[in-house]
Amino acid sequence: MRAFPDHLDVEAIRADFPALARTVRNGNPLIYLDSGATSQKPVQVLDAERSFYELHNAAAHRGTHLLGEEATDVYEGARAKVAAFIGAEAGEVVFTKNATEAINLVAYTMKASPGDEILITEMEHHANLVPWHLCERTGATLRWLSVTPDGRLELDDLDRMITGRTKLVAVTHQSNVTGTIPPVAEIARAAHDKGALLLADAAQSVPHQAVDVAALGVDFLAFSGHKMLGPYGIGVLFGRAGLLEAMPPFLTGGSMIEMVRMEGSTFLPPPQRFEPGVPPVAEAAGLGAAVDYLSALGMDAVAAHEESLTAHALDALREINGVHILGPDTTKDRGGAVAFEVEGVHPHDVGQVLDELGVAVRTGHHCAWPLHRALGVQASTRATFYVYNTHAEVDALADGIRYAQRFFGARQ
Ligand SMILES: Cc1ncc(COP(=O)(O)O)c(C=O)c1O
Repeated sequence: MRAFPDHLDVEAIRADFPALARTVRNGNPLIYLDSGATSQKPVQVLDAERSFYELHNAAAHRGTHLLGEEATDVYEGARAKVAAFIGAEAGEVVFTKNATEAINLVAYTMKASPGDEILITEMEHHANLVPWHLCERTGATLRWLSVTPDGRLELDDLDRMITGRTKLVAVTHQSNVTGTIPPVAEIARAAHDKGALLLADAAQSVPHQAVDVAALGVDFLAFSGHKMLGPYGIGVLFGRAGLLEAMPPFLTGGSMIEMVRMEGSTFLPPPQRFEPGVPPVAEAAGLGAAVDYLSALGMDAVAAHEESLTAHALDALREINGVHILGPDTTKDRGGAVAFEVEGVHPHDVGQVLDELGVAVRTGHHCAWPLHRALGVQASTRATFYVYNTHAEVDALADGIRYAQRFFGARQ
């Protein structure tokens, strides 16, 4: 057995996650390998939400009473934590519902017109693809970088694909299927050289590696709280201050206005301009606690732990005849999402057999249909790893796949 460098005390971490102590089908312990869809939540996050509701519950930015002030402090405190976590200023962090809404905010407020070009990639999750189909309405042209057979971005064409007409390049910072980590900083430089902006979909990177918006050179960055140990219902759009300042509102209503008359209204500066309605304070409290939790572990240690799990999974899956890994088969520039095909067994059947054994994975096209098409597969089975996963769980996945092959009489 190969030795893996590991700096996380995984046993202690697991004790913080009540869901990991439960049993699932057939009385098996839960082996949760679906954190790419959503992560489990530690008690620290659950406590932060509960404590807000128990002691401070009020509408932030509204009441003049003490509870209202406390709620505002909780909400703005969470914003400051998130900003520090990604190397941004608090005013550059807009709370949204999730990464999907954050990307839509940019797509809907950007003034694209006929002649403009938006450049995306074939590797994108639908959340960073479908919003750009808005080009059909604005008359802008949608272009995309293709994917190489080994699941990397085809960058040879980058200079040709970003033109003087490119308004924005929108690219994933980590594929939710192949784990590929494209060179976002390099792509951002190329975009800026031609006067274009860069949006990174960081839904799968911020939870798993240290991300610094200045070092990456991105103009926008989108991610979700629920994939980084936090609650559902809260996500983040980072936008460079000057850019947010110049953008019109996306959704409108209370809390985002400066002055309202019957004829029209004026709007607050960012980030409030983009946060209409009573804000999700409990969710922000939970997200702040998730940021504290990850910061205490250290994002470099988190990334090292996941790299060791991914290396183990790639080794274990490579040893199984009839299993084909999608995307890079080494951990270089690759995160902890491992999608694979099992010859002769449909992914849904693989997933069902694994579920009977207590192993939770995702099956299908993982909201990345064009990427599956580009890689020549209909669907796949995907295991994703996080801070609480162990090498023994990776072994259980490999054993489960072998069991599924035997069960369906597939080649081994
Ligand atoms: C790479 C990527 N981008 C965006 C999203 C969308 O996240 P959400 O559904 O939380 O908005 C996901 C979710 O799976 C994802 O994996």
